Amino acid sequence: MLEHLRNADPEVYDAILKEANRQHQKLEMIASENFVSEAVLEAMGSPLTNKYAEGYPAKRYYGGCEFVDIAEKLAIERAKRLFHAGHANVQPHSGSQANLAAYLALIKPGGKLMGLNLSQGGHLTHGSPVNFSGNLFQVAAYGVHPETHRIEADEFRRAVEAFQPDLVILGASAYPRIIDFQTLGEIIHGAGAKALADIAHIAGLVAADLHPDPIPYMDVVTTTTHKTLRGPRGGMILCGEEYQKAVDKNIFPGCQGGPLMHVIAGKAVAFHEALQPEFKEYQKQILVNAKTLEKVFKERNVRLISGGTDNHLLLLDVSHNGLTGKETEKALDRASITANKNMIPFDTQSPMVTSGIRLGTPALTTRGMGTEEMIRIGNWIADILESKLDEAVIESVKRQVHELVEAFPLYPRWRENVLVKA
Ligand SMILES: Cc1ncc(COP(=O)(O)O)c(C=O)c1O
Repeated sequence: MLEHLRNADPEVYDAILKEANRQHQKLEMIASENFVSEAVLEAMGSPLTNKYAEGYPAKRYYGGCEFVDIAEKLAIERAKRLFHAGHANVQPHSGSQANLAAYLALIKPGGKLMGLNLSQGGHLTHGSPVNFSGNLFQVAAYGVHPETHRIEADEFRRAVEAFQPDLVILGASAYPRIIDFQTLGEIIHGAGAKALADIAHIAGLVAADLHPDPIPYMDVVTTTTHKTLRGPRGGMILCGEEYQKAVDKNIFPGCQGGPLMHVIAGKAVAFHEALQPEFKEYQKQILVNAKTLEKVFKERNVRLISGGTDNHLLLLDVSHNGLTGKETEKALDRASITANKNMIPFDTQSPMVTSGIRLGTPALTTRGMGTEEMIRIGNWIADILESKLDEAVIESVKRQVHELVEAFPLYPRWRENVLVKA
């Protein structure tokens, strides 16, 4: 395995194998991460990376595109079937680039854009001043309710009517509840604005009909392909006929040059996987696992933002335990549990410290972990919080994690030559 790389560049080889080993040895609970199949990995590590294919299938600026056209057409057709969308652009290199192109397809630079407050679950690209979205557009944010921690329709309507935006973005990076695309979409359109849903986090749930579908209520939908959807790292834009041309033009030549054809082939493979009946079962298990963690945390008096979860993620308020997100993230890592510190609504800590920890179940569910494992893991996390990050507790959890993961092997062929454990 990887003999060319091992010989040509032992340092990179070593880093890759150590990373594969880290992924196997730790419990991956970052809500935005997942593990692709070996088939997706193979498509991404293929000679398609060599091909320039500026343009779209059958309308390229380069010769020799007949086979990459097959891969891109498959990705497009499968994406359309998966999301019941009229049009799919599978070329965005990332979720951020999908958003940039989609915004420019809908409004002009200088227009008014509104998204969920970054510190209350939104994403940088939804209007943060340090991001292109905050630089190119006039921005304002809507928020969650101080008590329910949910986006409440009346409050949302008031915010939209006060700002009179040209475009409103629905979607989030750290929001554990269902987003009512129909109600909020009607409010947005009623205020004369355009509506975009960024379903990066919940795309797999939407594809499996386990989260309300935004497509009928939005002008454009964007997503990443690598979170719950379990595809390669990248982005995608979905829309109807009305915005098809504008979306395509704003991806290429607007925001990107040559598409990453090896990644697009990986997207095609992942969409094929997502169209199989097992994918729905997988997505159901993601939800069951998140609900199981919710139950354990409630029993153990761990405070959850919004009181629980409807989707694949939970947001813990660790200030309730007298802790910060920063120190808790580090302690969990020492226990071989990988998660990220996260702002909670109305956080009094800075973004580098935070009062929250975000946990997700997609990656562990991919490994085959279910209810039994979630009960153990939830209790380990509660033990660590309750002990106020006691090193003996952390060490004991770490030993149990290392025992548990051996029953759920990950990417064995990428780890077979590991000499130094991560
Ligand atoms: C809601 C949302 N949109 C967009 C993105 C950006 O995706 P990428 O990191 O691929 O640019 C993310 C990534 O975390 C996200 O959570």
